[in-house]
Amino acid sequence: MAEKFGTPTYVYSAGTIVDHYARLDAALAPLDHLICYAVKANSNRAILKLLADAGAGFDIVSGGELFRVLAAGGDPAKCTFTGVGKSREEIEYALEQGVYSFNVESESELENIDRIAGAKNLRAPIALRVNPDIDPHTHEYISTGSHENKFGIALDRIAAVYESAAKMRNIDIVGVQMHIGSQITEAQPFASAIWKLAPIVRELKSKYAIKFFSIGGGMGIIYRRALESGSGKWWHDHGGESSVFSIRDYADAIVPPSRQLGIGIVVEPGRFLVGNAGVLLTRVGYIKKSGAKKFAIVDAGMNDLIRPALYHSYHEIVPVKETKSERERKISKIDIVGPVCESGDFFALDREMPKLDEGDLLAIMSGGAYGFVMASNYNSRPLPAEGLVRGDKFALIRKRQTWKDLVRGEIEPL
Ligand code: LLP
Repeated sequence: MAEKFGTPTYVYSAGTIVDHYARLDAALAPLDHLICYAVKANSNRAILKLLADAGAGFDIVSGGELFRVLAAGGDPAKCTFTGVGKSREEIEYALEQGVYSFNVESESELENIDRIAGAKNLRAPIALRVNPDIDPHTHEYISTGSHENKFGIALDRIAAVYESAAKMRNIDIVGVQMHIGSQITEAQPFASAIWKLAPIVRELKSKYAIKFFSIGGGMGIIYRRALESGSGKWWHDHGGESSVFSIRDYADAIVPPSRQLGIGIVVEPGRFLVGNAGVLLTRVGYIKKSGAKKFAIVDAGMNDLIRPALYHSYHEIVPVKETKSERERKISKIDIVGPVCESGDFFALDREMPKLDEGDLLAIMSGGAYGFVMASNYNSRPLPAEGLVRGDKFALIRKRQTWKDLVRGEIEPL
């Protein structure tokens, strides 16, 4: 793919995505469940189509995401619409398309949805997003379920807000939702949050006959695999699992507290389905030495994959060609950096790597989630290409942007 389409290019595996979906679906079989893929993790239409064909619903956070889902053949009746700042235009569009539920994050938003639905002579199905105030033990930027952040409605307000929702003329109460954070590496916080909300869910079920409880997304994946030193093998085999805890652990934690609620369960995984199904291919442009430091300057930058710069997150980086044994012996520390004019433009600092040469092709691993979707044109760098591998075939699923694309839409002032 690098030869045919150039670099930097994101490459995804259709087989892995479908396999992750199927395994999660099977593990949740004891529950009446719906998997709503969190589109924000990777919204390429080809990826959405794979999941739609597998039977997935979608968790969307904007009108744009709903538009993509529909363009990919997804079913709006299986879409939940989350997000703290839904605009009038987005609410109208979602009402017209008939989403499964608006996951509402504040009282004013609820009133706004009621008004907009009334003006259109439609009824809006809603769930309130409860903030369960649970510490998910993850990075502060991606923790969402504690009372100190902007998401959801506080536990002590929930009953009152449902009561006012019940009085609104154009609102149908259909569910309740929570999401405690992202890249959660233990199964326990999920179970704790479900146990904590269970009494509320039961009450809502008896009072308003709600249909579903969405327990959010957030299952963490493995970003860091140990280097098997000296064995000539770069990867540990994780038996096909790419989640930190196994799907079995997750299901064992969430099925018992969920099953006894006797209600539909919605899950909103993003990263888990696509994170380890994608890599970012990049080529080494220059090797530079400066004092004791060594740098490999690659053709991908923080504009293509911002996670290391933004969260200091770790991404495994591997040479695409199998490392030759004499090369492998020469493992040394190197910074792998991009060409963008920022010190924060790095993918790895002081990383132990086999000797790298100019022209080498590298794969930045675990790039399938929150990679391309967070890319920008910073430094006027065109957005990278995206490709999909399916069995022994591969195809481009998004063209690399051109310089012309960069100025398209810009207008000369009078
Ligand atoms: N549901 C809701 C309401 C969410 O806010 C999110 C993610 C998800 C589901 C999916 O979470 P997941 O299963 O992917 O963990 N850009 C960050 C991650 C931000 C996640 C935001 N919300 C990163 O690169 O780590």
